[in-house]
Amino acid sequence: MKKLIAGNWKMNTTRDEAHALAKGLQATASDKVEMVICPPAVWLADLAAILKAPLLLGAQDCHAADKGAFTGNIAAPMLKELGCTYVIVGHSERRALQFETNAIVKAKAQAAIKHGLIPIICVGEIEAEREAGRHEAVVGQQLAESLPETGHYVVAYEPVWAIGTGKTATAADVKAMHGFIRTKLAESVDHADKVAILYGGSVKAANAAEILSTKDVDGVLVGGASLQLEEFRAIAQAAPH
Ligand code: PGA
Repeated sequence: MKKLIAGNWKMNTTRDEAHALAKGLQATASDKVEMVICPPAVWLADLAAILKAPLLLGAQDCHAADKGAFTGNIAAPMLKELGCTYVIVGHSERRALQFETNAIVKAKAQAAIKHGLIPIICVGEIEAEREAGRHEAVVGQQLAESLPETGHYVVAYEPVWAIGTGKTATAADVKAMHGFIRTKLAESVDHADKVAILYGGSVKAANAAEILSTKDVDGVLVGGASLQLEEFRAIAQAAPH
């Protein structure tokens, strides 16, 4: 499978910055990787008009319900109508700051699949859990409780202590955790080798080649570095193909 390079812009970019970044990426898009851009929801419609294949559009979150009295939320069918292919669910910032539980994350992932989107389901341990040697137990539970029983999804392993900190897990740690996730997937799905497992947490041009050539790493979920055109482009170019 092609490596999946996803950019999560989080709550960043002015409208002009979003346009400039999207146009720059479009101008140099390569079909050697699958590249997904997840801008703030307010720029999705603008980016849908700028981004063309092979660049794909993704959202940063969706609600579990199809519609209803949920002030401020966005439903999966709305994202589909805007032209999204992917939607991130269960990002650690939402788990921590919006109090999203595994059950909520699973319901969002199921809603995404129901409406023809591919959820990128995030899991990852906090630093104290890794130091206590509990990282596999924590991620194992997140997988057991957050993944839908059926449907096409992507898993993103993002150790919380590596997000936005400049710290990255060692290649050995990434390999071990991705192998663990693959084994867990194999217990519940028929084709675990077809489920993309992304790594996220301080990915940048300088470490992308090593991470992307690590066994069981099918792509990366990039935050800060996805806001810099040259960095993000270099990350995509670092993917072995
Ligand atoms: P980062 O964020 O690349 O800035 O560490 C990754 C993420 O939160 O998806």
